[in-house]
Amino acid sequence: MNIILFGQPGAGKGTQAQKLSKKYGIPQISTGDILRANVKEGTKLGLEAKKYMDAGELVPDAVLIGIIKDRLLQPDAANGFLLDGYPRTIPQADALAGILDEIKKPIDAVINIAVPTPILLERLSGRWMSACGASYNTVFNPPKKEGVCDVCGDQLFQRPDDTSAAVANRLEVYQKQTAPLIDYYKGKGLLKDIDGTKDIDVVFEEIDKIAAPFK
Ligand code: AP5
Ligand code: MG
Repeated sequence: MNIILFGQPGAGKGTQAQKLSKKYGIPQISTGDILRANVKEGTKLGLEAKKYMDAGELVPDAVLIGIIKDRLLQPDAANGFLLDGYPRTIPQADALAGILDEIKKPIDAVINIAVPTPILLERLSGRWMSACGASYNTVFNPPKKEGVCDVCGDQLFQRPDDTSAAVANRLEVYQKQTAPLIDYYKGKGLLKDIDGTKDIDVVFEEIDKIAAPFK
């Protein structure tokens, strides 16, 4: 199963990739998570990426293409992968096609999770994260105990790019640089549109109907 989870910031890419990963035992490859881990560890890459991320800008393509190539070659991706947050530009998509061609793992589907902007804003302002990767929402998906992760018990925190200014820029950057990928993948017959406004489990059922035949 080689799947791309596509959609605007807050559409539910990470939430749904985690559920697919759990069900099918294949890795969720989130470039946002990889970059955030580097920021946390203070690596050279993290220091470079942080200024773009905090402003809601994309990190340069050359950096991302290197990251994704390394990650796709790791042994745990041999039986499939769930890309979450990559590709974000046409050059990233072209580079991905080249890498997947080399390793003979074609993309099975690009699942476009569609959600209108007012709902995205509500979701991102209410999002709380855990260090273990779990994600909550104060309105739509609250933890059992306020401020504490159900999975690992750590204190929850908000992402630095979930401020209203950074979110506004992320949505604008999506329209300019990422939305053209919809036609790109439509042209290849890979795009599957999903209504992402329904409950998390309902959205998952819809996505799973598309994904299951590729297991
Ligand atoms: P990244 O981490 O990829 O952020 P993003 O695309 O902005 O997307 P999000 O993670 O905010 O949203 P999501 O779709 O995963 O939604 P989630 O499931 O969390 O990237 C961050 C930054 O890193 C970028 O801005 C850029 O700087 C850099 N970067 C990363 N990849 C890059 C690349 N390829 N190229 C260049 N730069 C890159 O859900 C959101 C909230 O809604 C949660 O609270 C969740 O609980 C809730 N929710 C989810 N689904 C539902 C539902 N169905 N109903 C109700 N609530 C829901
Ligand atoms: Mg995400």
